[in-house]
Amino acid sequence: MSSSPVGFFDSGIGGISLWMTVNEILPSENTVYLSDSRNCPYGNKPIEYLNEICIKNTEFLISKGCKTIVVACNTATTNSISLLRENFDVPFIGIEPAIKPAALNSVSGKIGILATKGTLSSTLFSQTSTSYLDEVELIKKDGDGLVELIEKGIFDGRVLNNLLIKYLKPMIDFGVDQIVLGCTHYPFIKPLIKKIVKDINVIDCNEAVALQLKNILEINKLINSRTSNNSNHTFFNSSPDNSTINKILENKYEIFNFES
Ligand code: DGL
Repeated sequence: MSSSPVGFFDSGIGGISLWMTVNEILPSENTVYLSDSRNCPYGNKPIEYLNEICIKNTEFLISKGCKTIVVACNTATTNSISLLRENFDVPFIGIEPAIKPAALNSVSGKIGILATKGTLSSTLFSQTSTSYLDEVELIKKDGDGLVELIEKGIFDGRVLNNLLIKYLKPMIDFGVDQIVLGCTHYPFIKPLIKKIVKDINVIDCNEAVALQLKNILEINKLINSRTSNNSNHTFFNSSPDNSTINKILENKYEIFNFES
């Protein structure tokens, strides 16, 4: 059982940013990654549809023998993880916007959050963010259009730069000293975001989630105790276009088709 893979899913390549961090922290773990690019973006889907997709993705990963599931998507986590936990026995690890570390780090008392419409409108996000409102002021921006560009493998250039300025300038003008990346696609454009916001601290919580996964695997005695580093990684994509996945993974893995 401990050599069974850890499953990951996202609407596309975004969760690979988290998968990469997990690989660094847990190099012995075998993994299965499901890129549901056909249904991308998740951020503008009605919650009922999102729930249905998340159930299908989980069923697929469990059919591949996954011992635990990383919901490598803020939108899916904030809207659907409780439903997944009610319906399946495997442990789930989700990812949510890192408001707590941003609030703790902030000196100006103002933080910005860039996330999808689906994450920002979720009950879970609203509960978490409300609990920090005594300590910090929050400016939220829906990064409409960013995920679509990133899925095309666009990580810099004029179009992306202009869109980012539209979302980040109001945060800069508001006086934030922390910006939370509340979508797993955004770490791929962090260098461009940093270029625009300069000294403002840009936070994602990939490392914290990877450490939490380690902790959950240890608690459940599911950690792969094998010491060699030749772990096995399998990728599935629900769209026939694998170009951006291959670009990120430097053509190191075969990508299989997933009929969603
Ligand atoms: N990467 C996802 C997230 O963290 C989903 C983005 C989308 O498909 O809209 O929210």
